[in-house]
Amino acid sequence: MTEFAIETNGLVKTFGDTRAVDGIDLAVPAGAVYGVLGPNGAGKTTAVRMLATLLRPDSGGARVFGRDLIREADAVRSMVSLTGQYASVDEDLTGIENLVLLGRLLGHRKAAARERGARLLEAFGLTEAAGKQVKNYSGGMRRRLDIAASILNTPKLLFLDEPTTGLDPRSRNQVWDIVRAVVAHGTTVLLTTQYLDEADRLASRIAVIDHGKVIAEGTPGELKSSVGRGAIHVRLRDADQRNKAEWVLSEALSAPVQLDADPVALTARISGHETERGAAEQASRALVALAEAGITVDDFSLGQPSLDEVFLALTDKPATTDDEEISA
Ligand SMILES: Nc1ncnc2c1ncn2[C@@H]1O[C@H](COP(=O)(O)OP(=O)(O)OP(=O)(O)O)[C@@H](O)[C@H]1O
Ligand SMILES: [Mg+2]
Repeated sequence: MTEFAIETNGLVKTFGDTRAVDGIDLAVPAGAVYGVLGPNGAGKTTAVRMLATLLRPDSGGARVFGRDLIREADAVRSMVSLTGQYASVDEDLTGIENLVLLGRLLGHRKAAARERGARLLEAFGLTEAAGKQVKNYSGGMRRRLDIAASILNTPKLLFLDEPTTGLDPRSRNQVWDIVRAVVAHGTTVLLTTQYLDEADRLASRIAVIDHGKVIAEGTPGELKSSVGRGAIHVRLRDADQRNKAEWVLSEALSAPVQLDADPVALTARISGHETERGAAEQASRALVALAEAGITVDDFSLGQPSLDEVFLALTDKPATTDDEEISA
């Protein structure tokens, strides 16, 4: 039987007229990363703050490892830790000073706090920066320190609220490695993100939320297949053959074919209810039709839809992109 780290039922939180969280039901299996994916203002932080006992729900409830979020809030609090969207470490202290201070607040003796802090800094690649004031850290270093601070007392459940927003690709990769390591040590992670590729890489299940409601839930693969089997991408040797190729492909596949910005490239969308095998058959049919029409193909691939396409299909609007306001 699956053990659940979190089970919510009809969780609601309103701020004035805003229904920030509007009746969310989640079942988060223990021992893995669960992704909560949604654009700015979807209600991610509000949901996380309720589940971490920082904010009281207006209605509905939740169990965290079987404990009632409201009636057994202390028990819940002892099992969870939160790395917020907004950093919690002290700017004027050094990395090691922050961890020692927090370790002491958690009730560890100084020597133990120092040792655990030093080990975490080493694991997170921050040993060299240990003696520097946090205000001189880069965004990526800071985020890693934040996560280190939140796992000083190995929590059963860790909330990571947008842990990589605003980080460069290298720092994102470092944070992803940390998340994987935390889960390998037995902690369940609930990760919120606006990045589809991040949820796809890390999470074993994903809830897509928008306007405070869950609009889709499943494994990354299930979410992708709910909007179709993907697309066939073709690159031609000769741009002059593209109009012909467009016609040949749309005849062969009975599917819409789109001309890409690249003058030798085309994309054919595979329809919604195809099986995986159906997709392969469509791909081979497309190749044969192109060859029979005398069209030279340089590159041909069958791709799964991206989670971006999933989001678009579910909400009629694209997911938020990198250049949006980070701290909105
Ligand atoms: N303390 C508050 N007072 C009033 N409105 C709030 C408060 N906190 C959140 N909201 C509103 O609730 C909605 C959900 O906000 P929330 O911060 O949970 O979204 P989010 O998914 O975390 O967004 P982001 O990706 O920008 O962090 C938004 O419309 C927001 O303006
Ligand atoms: Mg947020």
